[in-house]
Amino acid sequence: MTAVPRSPLALLGGSPVHDAEWPLWPQAPESTLTMLRQAATSGRWAVSGAYTGTASFERRFSDAFAAYHSVPYGVPVTNGSAALTVAMEALGVGPGTEVIVPGLTWVACASAAAGLGATPILVDVDPETLSISADAAKAAVTERTKAILVVHAYCSSADVDAFVQLSESTGIPIIEDCSQAHGAEWNGRKVGTFGTIGVFSLQQTKVLTCGEGGIAITSSAELYDQLQQYRANGRRYTDRPVAGQLELEDVGTVEGHNHSMSEFHAAVALSQLEFLDQQSEVRERNASALTALLAAIPGVSTVPAPAGLTRRTYYDYIIRLDRELLGGLPIQRVVDAMTAELNVFFETLDTPLNANPLYTPLKSPRLPRSAPDRQSFDPTRFELPEATAAFHTCFAFLHHALLGTGDDVAAIAEAVDKVVAHLDHLRSAEGDPR
Ligand SMILES: Cc1ncc(COP(=O)(O)O)c(C=O)c1O
Repeated sequence: MTAVPRSPLALLGGSPVHDAEWPLWPQAPESTLTMLRQAATSGRWAVSGAYTGTASFERRFSDAFAAYHSVPYGVPVTNGSAALTVAMEALGVGPGTEVIVPGLTWVACASAAAGLGATPILVDVDPETLSISADAAKAAVTERTKAILVVHAYCSSADVDAFVQLSESTGIPIIEDCSQAHGAEWNGRKVGTFGTIGVFSLQQTKVLTCGEGGIAITSSAELYDQLQQYRANGRRYTDRPVAGQLELEDVGTVEGHNHSMSEFHAAVALSQLEFLDQQSEVRERNASALTALLAAIPGVSTVPAPAGLTRRTYYDYIIRLDRELLGGLPIQRVVDAMTAELNVFFETLDTPLNANPLYTPLKSPRLPRSAPDRQSFDPTRFELPEATAAFHTCFAFLHHALLGTGDDVAAIAEAVDKVVAHLDHLRSAEGDPR
């Protein structure tokens, strides 16, 4: 790899490293279009529509996704946030309880708990894997803790063994959020199956997507019953469906809402599941090649997998720069420079939740002004030094750029090399309107 850049930074008027097209995401192969058409012409567009005599796409997707994880039950919902909500409701999360949440993740992880009236307790991440730290979670346990939300973040995972041990020793259930880790494995077993409930987002950027969607999986028949009711206004599938009649029966042992996934979304999700493993293999191969290339650039590092993570999912590929190398340059400038070099979207990590402008529980009308524990919801009361350090030194790109060729991978590494070699120019051009 050259240490001397060939041209000025594209951001500052030079030529980009790569201006060709990147693989499209999401992708719509013929089978997706066929299933969408089947859903459209089936006479049933919703779980709450009448049974037609054949299994709904919602049922087929939940069965296929559960089987993929070797668990008996799956409950599709409208999005990952709804999956978090129904999972928390099924575990009794509500006012007066606490949920332990990593401080470096998408805001929905905390706002789902706050939306149920529970206090999200933000804890720091492991500085290496950037997923929730088991030690920090352990230190945050109180008698009010109702659940621990273990998010497998970006392209690595939490220490699953440590969390299973913590759950066993405290009796506190784990919700495993695998929205960024579909198909990842811990010691050969799929993540999402170690926690009491596993939740997944199927939103457009995810490695398995139907545009907007989500699913919760579990091995517990009792929780399956609850999850179904929480997602369909207190209804669940009847064991004896009759064509022309509703396939849902009224139960009402909990106060449910409508979070049901439509047949169109389920058809897309089912068709896309078929491609997940083969796409993940391409991403893994390209990610390994990229990691090897980046290792040769001084001051640049990547996110390692913990020993137990035997199969990684690259949702976001993360590149970290030494703090000394950055010398105070805002990471957003590096993101802008990388985007300009490669003509593909780069981004910072999530803003830590103690400083994230999108996580504002104190502004929520659901939190009574007179709530005695109101201040416990204040995100700024939590200290998240590792999450904050990671935010200022890491940047990321989405997985579809890893679905390309060896040349694409080489271009990413070349762009990193070029941007790193030009950090001084970026610093002196700070405020340059270009
Ligand atoms: C870790 C994590 N959890 C939950 C969610 C929420 O999912 P959705 O956007 O489908 O509601 C996301 C989505 O971005 C996520 O990344």
